[in-house]
Amino acid sequence: NEIKLFSPATIANLSCGFDVLGVCLDNVGDEMIVRKSDVKGVRITKIVGADLPLETEKNVSGVAALALLDEMEADCGFEIEIYKKIKAGSGIGSSAASSAGAVFGINALLGNPFSAAALVKFAMQGEKLASGSAHADNVAPALLGGFTLVRSYDPLDIIRIESPPELYATVIHPQIELKTSDARSVLKQNISLKSAIAQWGNVGGLVAGLYTKDYDLIGRSLHDEIVEPIRSVLIPGFDRIKKTAKENGALGSGISGSGPSIFALSKGKETAEKVAGAMCKIYDEMKLPYEIHVSKIN
Ligand code: HSE
Repeated sequence: NEIKLFSPATIANLSCGFDVLGVCLDNVGDEMIVRKSDVKGVRITKIVGADLPLETEKNVSGVAALALLDEMEADCGFEIEIYKKIKAGSGIGSSAASSAGAVFGINALLGNPFSAAALVKFAMQGEKLASGSAHADNVAPALLGGFTLVRSYDPLDIIRIESPPELYATVIHPQIELKTSDARSVLKQNISLKSAIAQWGNVGGLVAGLYTKDYDLIGRSLHDEIVEPIRSVLIPGFDRIKKTAKENGALGSGISGSGPSIFALSKGKETAEKVAGAMCKIYDEMKLPYEIHVSKIN
């Protein structure tokens, strides 16, 4: 009657795939307990580690849970406890982890009436509350694991993408908060055909590289000439971190989600850890507090 779960952090966009690509981190995430209750409806009974609203309609977990229960009537209610480890506004899918965890937990307690892919649209309602836009590039990898592609939003079509065995992510989070809604409001609504061609070439290249285990192709494809030039000015030391990642052997790097976290992908754990050390050195020099993570992608 109760499920305890780990809801992972995620890197969205992966440079070229704004709002469509995302990947799950295996060792960074929130913990949640979802339990059945005799009282119908959804209640957030406890939040540890963050100052977030307990009111169901104002909480991303609550809203995602209600979206699920709108479609599948249950003869009981649900209580949700959230132990936040992912900081809000960090760029590694904090709201997505809460939204995905809630629908995953309720679905499990109901005997899994929905597939993981079918849960994405409910979790997206949490994202809508958090950022004003129902993007799926964090909730999809949180629910399906590994890399995911949102092939289409309307109709929703989520594809899980295979990835090579030795791929590791390094993520550094400078301790500033950047709201996704703010980081979205600075973006242009139109792009040139030239930029679009560069971007979809890289998305295709990244997906092909992941499937064929071509690490160099993965690295060559980690480019973003649409969003990164605009958002990177909001992130302290961005150019230096990117440069040092490359110099220390990373395949490529960029903004994690809407920032301020910066990610790098590397072949092998050793390289990913070397990249982590080099990134830390930059922020140490800048006297900026940070958090660092190295995760295997699987
Ligand atoms: N694709 C979204 C954005 C992800 O970049 O705004 C937010 O985590």
